[in-house]
Amino acid sequence: MLYSFINKLRRDVLKRKKEVYLDRLVQRGLKLGKNVEIIDTFFFDPSHCFLITIGDNTTICPNVRLIAHDASTKKSLGYTKIGKITIGENCFIGDSATILLNVTIGANSIIGAGSVVTKPVPPSSVAAGNPAVVISGTDRYLKKISEYRKSKKVFSKDYYIEKLDEKKRSEILESVADTIGFIV
Ligand SMILES: CC(C)(COP(=O)(O)OP(=O)(O)OC[C@H]1O[C@@H](n2cnc3c(N)ncnc32)[C@H](O)[C@@H]1OP(=O)(O)O)[C@@H](O)C(=O)NCCC(=O)NCCS
Repeated sequence: MLYSFINKLRRDVLKRKKEVYLDRLVQRGLKLGKNVEIIDTFFFDPSHCFLITIGDNTTICPNVRLIAHDASTKKSLGYTKIGKITIGENCFIGDSATILLNVTIGANSIIGAGSVVTKPVPPSSVAAGNPAVVISGTDRYLKKISEYRKSKKVFSKDYYIEKLDEKKRSEILESVADTIGFIV
């Protein structure tokens, strides 16, 4: 009881801290669309955040880094490279992806986990790797996954971690024994 109260309090404090921090970035010029979901930790180049635009309905996974400046020339030449980062609407930026300056990611695109994006990504593309390259179109990717899902069970919210018992855990483990599975 006390443990869950403290946990909730901790979550609330962290959530509020994140909101305050994001508000400060927005005040300093970060253009944040509506309904942008930012999961957990992030780095939106605080000293150059006014160069960054994130479109409506985009999802930013944990540990994403948007780096709008490059001080690799600072000591030798006396100045730093800067550039815009523009992420379109309805994008999904995978866990720990890094997006460098002077990059536009077109609407409806997906960036793979751990990618380093150095070049523009056309709209409706799936790009991944270091450096990130287009590996599919978003429609083709979604069609592939939908086709695959037809032969698999999609586990409901009753299978979320807090509701798992031994039986449910085994069901999921069986479903992913040698391939991927699905959960809402
Ligand atoms: C990019 C992504 C959407 C592609 O999904 P997919 O098409 O089902 O992936 P596949 O496993 O079929 O891989 C297709 C090819 O892309 C490569 N690839 C997939 N994801 C990659 C990634 N993140 N980085 C580099 N290469 C990747 C695979 O190695 C494979 O290459 P090959 O054709 O040479 O064998 C997915 O791999 C991904 O990274 N999703 C994000 C996951 C995430 O961030 N989760 C956070 C919690 S929501």
